[in-house]
Amino acid sequence: MTDIQSLERDIESAITAAADEGALEQVRVSALGKKGSISELLKTLGGMSPEERKEKGPQFNTLRDRISAAITARKTELQEQALNARLASERIDVTLPARPEPQGTVHPVSQVLDEITAIFADLGFAVAEGPDVEYDDYNFTRLNIPPDHPARQMHDTFYVSPQRDGSRHVLRTHTSPVQVRTMLSQNPPIRIISPGRAYRVDSDATHSPMFHQFEGLVIDEVTNLGHLKWTLEELCKAFFEVEKVELRARPSFFPFTEPSVEWDLRCDRSTPGKITFGQGNDWLELAGSGMVHPKVLAMCGIDPEKYQGYAFGGGIDRLAMLKYGIPDIRSFFESDIRWLKHFGFAPLDIPTLDGGLSR
Ligand code: DAH
Repeated sequence: MTDIQSLERDIESAITAAADEGALEQVRVSALGKKGSISELLKTLGGMSPEERKEKGPQFNTLRDRISAAITARKTELQEQALNARLASERIDVTLPARPEPQGTVHPVSQVLDEITAIFADLGFAVAEGPDVEYDDYNFTRLNIPPDHPARQMHDTFYVSPQRDGSRHVLRTHTSPVQVRTMLSQNPPIRIISPGRAYRVDSDATHSPMFHQFEGLVIDEVTNLGHLKWTLEELCKAFFEVEKVELRARPSFFPFTEPSVEWDLRCDRSTPGKITFGQGNDWLELAGSGMVHPKVLAMCGIDPEKYQGYAFGGGIDRLAMLKYGIPDIRSFFESDIRWLKHFGFAPLDIPTLDGGLSR
């Protein structure tokens, strides 16, 4: 074997052995670079006799061309290999779900709370909040229920141990103390809604010791019972998703309102297991309400000579039971995962009036 042939074989096996483009480039430099073995060979042509040059010249040039072609071929091969490896490693299984299905659901009470909040937000009400452990003063006294007033007995109150100064806290028996907090901290005009928890010593199929209420309060110089009626009608239409509703006013008594009115909603329960609103011969208790008592306004720092307004309050759990066909209030709080899966709502669908309340 001539020197040229063995040089060509050595370079070719180095080309084949190059595992990536970097290694191949090193082989190219060592053969065809300025000081590469083939370049050095070509330089020897200058010192040759014309005859010898005529013979060796073409041989050397062919060698250079063949090596150069082999390097290019190997380069293409390596690029293809690299691409295939990348394609294999970055493969995406488009049949997999893009995002895992959310596991949890929104509790029907939370859903209804959000629905009611969305409806009142649309009517221009702000959301106000208060604590579950409340001053006796805010839960009763400033709502015109002084100590020893008989109305206190109706509330079946959970009392918290007395504070060091002798004052008593209670688990709020209704959301009405949020009215007091709002009037003490804001100037009229006031327009708030306050959904939240309340507590009473009571437990059966329709009463739970912890339950939910919504409270509304509107105070300005001219607001009257007509505005209240319209507001409750709008609430019922949006909440029960019906075009038409009919409300009936019943005279009532609450120490914090004068006059006091309870509202019933016309409904049809003639088909067992079904209830429809806006028609029929039955009435469903909706909410207690009234014009805020001047004494309450005064005890909350608002001038009753100048300002007036209405307040209302109703049960959220009962509305959720009616709207979603849940027979027993206690099932709300049993944390039965199968029940929650059945009655729960999709966590990413937030109730809005234009997007739909109860998808
Ligand atoms: N707080 C009352 C209750 O729990 C409901 C209520 C009645 C709230 C009349 C009001 C109202 O704001 O004006 O039974």
